[in-house]
Amino acid sequence: MTYILKNNVNEYVLKHKIGYGATCECYLGQKINENSSEKYAIKIFEKNKYIFYSNEVSFLSELNDNSNIIKLYEYGQGVLTPISNTDNNTNDNITNDNANEKTVYYQIMEYAINGELKDYVKDTSSRIPEKISAKIFMKIVKAVKYLHENDIAHCDLKPENILLDKNFNPKINDFGFSQKFDGKNGNFLLRKRSRTPRYSSPDVRLALTKGYNGIKNDIFSLGVLLFVITIGNFPFDTSTYSDDKYKFIIKGRYNQFWEFFNHIKISDEFKDLINNLINLTPNKRLSTDEILKHPWLIKQLGDNYETICNTSNQDCTNNDDDIDKDIIDELSSRKKLL
Ligand SMILES: Nc1ncnc2c1ncn2[C@@H]1O[C@H](COP(=O)(O)OP(=O)(O)O)[C@@H](O)[C@H]1O
Ligand SMILES: [Mg+2]
Repeated sequence: MTYILKNNVNEYVLKHKIGYGATCECYLGQKINENSSEKYAIKIFEKNKYIFYSNEVSFLSELNDNSNIIKLYEYGQGVLTPISNTDNNTNDNITNDNANEKTVYYQIMEYAINGELKDYVKDTSSRIPEKISAKIFMKIVKAVKYLHENDIAHCDLKPENILLDKNFNPKINDFGFSQKFDGKNGNFLLRKRSRTPRYSSPDVRLALTKGYNGIKNDIFSLGVLLFVITIGNFPFDTSTYSDDKYKFIIKGRYNQFWEFFNHIKISDEFKDLINNLINLTPNKRLSTDEILKHPWLIKQLGDNYETICNTSNQDCTNNDDDIDKDIIDELSSRKKLL
């Protein structure tokens, strides 16, 4: 189905759906009556999802200068009208179906043409090499550090919410569940639950009674995310005592946890980093600064470590400045198999 989205200033044609989640549908769109062929990702929220729309807008409208965070260009309320279009390549011959038009909330966003990082993770037998996952992870961690420095906890970090642009540069997306904490007063405790149980820390289960530290929960999710993108499988099902793998992390018996993955070749530095991200005790989890200095990253990145670590994620007007050939080669060869 094709749609037209109109607000007070602009008109967009929504060509086809490129993704969806629990809160919105996302379409590939273009401005009508403009010579530019610039493509946008246009997220459409039904009125009953306003809370997620407004939450995301409140964060993303503040965060427009980091090259590893998805950009929000325009947002608001608009009218969405289904159309029948006899010629997909032009905007001619459009017939509006005004009877079915509806008012929605929309976000016009940077289009991450290579989709979700999750789709590039296959299985344990076809893994992304540690050298490449280290580079991707480094960029994600630097962007999370920036979020935390701005007193924002993402609360839903997972490979589905990491999008890839034309150069396969990772972009953190989906701020529908993010929360602001009052860092200056030392009050880091958040009470709303974060979203995806498989990536949530044990502390989140206590959220409604005691609150939890949003930064430390994001770090835990980064641990699960790193494991998934590097090993091609989940480290455990849930971070509870009843989980047959996580129970060994709770008991501090890390060697027994890793025995489940004995058949996979994994470096000791990688295991050490994971152990320090998914720790039961929030205060024992590393900070983003400590992650960036971890021996696994230093070893995997080798001669590139200093350059990558010190390159600012400050937005470059043109993302072409941020090209990593190793990431492009690995992920584009995987894309062919999707
Ligand atoms: N800027 C974008 N570029 C490309 N695809 C996108 C973009 N934004 C969203 N999508 C697609 O739509 C899906 C759902 O969007 P998301 O923001 O994660 O909403 P939800 O809160 O519903 O999960 C994403 O996982 C992705 O596949
Ligand atoms: Mg999502």
